[in-house]
Amino acid sequence: MQTIALSQQDVAALLPYAEVNGMVDTVFKEWGNGNVVMPPKINLDMSRSGYDSWNNAMPAFLPNHNAAGLKWIGGYKSNADKGLPYIRGIVILTEPETGRTLSVMDGTYISDWRTGASAAVAVKYLARKNFKKVVMIGAGTQGKTAAACIHELFPDSEISVVDIFPEKRTAFIKEMSEKFHVPVKDEKDVEGAVRTADVLVLLTTAKKPFIKNEWLKDGVLTLPMGSYQQAEDQVILNADKIIVDSWGQAAHRGELKSLTELRKISEKNIYAELGLIASGQKIGRENSKERILAVLVGLGAHDVFIAKQVYDKAVKNGRGQKICLNDFAS
Ligand SMILES: NC(=O)c1ccc[n+]([C@@H]2O[C@H](COP(=O)([O-])OP(=O)(O)OC[C@H]3O[C@@H](n4cnc5c(N)ncnc54)[C@H](O)[C@@H]3O)[C@@H](O)[C@H]2O)c1
Repeated sequence: MQTIALSQQDVAALLPYAEVNGMVDTVFKEWGNGNVVMPPKINLDMSRSGYDSWNNAMPAFLPNHNAAGLKWIGGYKSNADKGLPYIRGIVILTEPETGRTLSVMDGTYISDWRTGASAAVAVKYLARKNFKKVVMIGAGTQGKTAAACIHELFPDSEISVVDIFPEKRTAFIKEMSEKFHVPVKDEKDVEGAVRTADVLVLLTTAKKPFIKNEWLKDGVLTLPMGSYQQAEDQVILNADKIIVDSWGQAAHRGELKSLTELRKISEKNIYAELGLIASGQKIGRENSKERILAVLVGLGAHDVFIAKQVYDKAVKNGRGQKICLNDFAS
């Protein structure tokens, strides 16, 4: 009846990142097939503390996998100065039948990798055939996992990186090469890089749009995945197709929030949720000229599903620390 506590080291040891693309794809299919219970995430704004910070509560239940839980995760702007990651959180797994807390585990590692894998799976379904150039805007944690996951699925693609801080680009290129064996090209000029992109991944902490519509090539797949709008309004309004991971969430967070609130876009402008395309119910890209914008704000279902795989492995391998949380029930 005990709960298993899993540290970030435990989670990392139990979750080879190369396996995450497949897990994320599975969950997109489950979501598309209506096999996921997932209310939209709840955002807790903590900026009134004087810190630029927020936390999200992201519950999900996947009945086919007996996986229920909550990711509780946030972004902490001042962490960069402290050498801490911007995004940090935990996942709590609950036994659907009894309510027993099966596990409390680090959620940062799971979240970082499922974010990267979401980008890669979107590329799989939506990029132009035989695309070559992937441009990462933002040399941060999520940028790294996205580059590694895209390389895992598309080893022949050419990846380059842009960041406002040259030292971040240098560190990114070094880590991608040494840790993940992914060659990445340095790009100093955002406009020049975007003009060449077949796939454009926006993973910055910028709070104001800076990607211009006239920079985009025909056929580009743009993945704005930050928590705030990064591409100017025209990029969104001129897209041939807008695809989201969950409309219930995308309307309130990230790239589409502002235009939705201004009533310049609504659900009618959304072509499909990615789950419908992954599960074969809708066609994704129809030609090589379409400019597709896929807004992936992040599904708690991914985190809960992956956490359940990690927990099952931990039980099998005897990993983690047993603690007594729900002791009245034991
Ligand atoms: N969609 C999802 O599922 C998901 C999941 C986790 C995080 N996020 C979001 O992704 C974003 C990135 O998170 P992270 O953990 O990688 O943060 P991070 O702090 O590790 O990296 C962000 C990078 O963006 C760079 N940057 C900021 N403004 C820029 C600009 N105008 N041009 C170029 N580079 C710029 C910073 O220098 C930094 O290197 C955040 O908005 C975060 O909330 C999304």
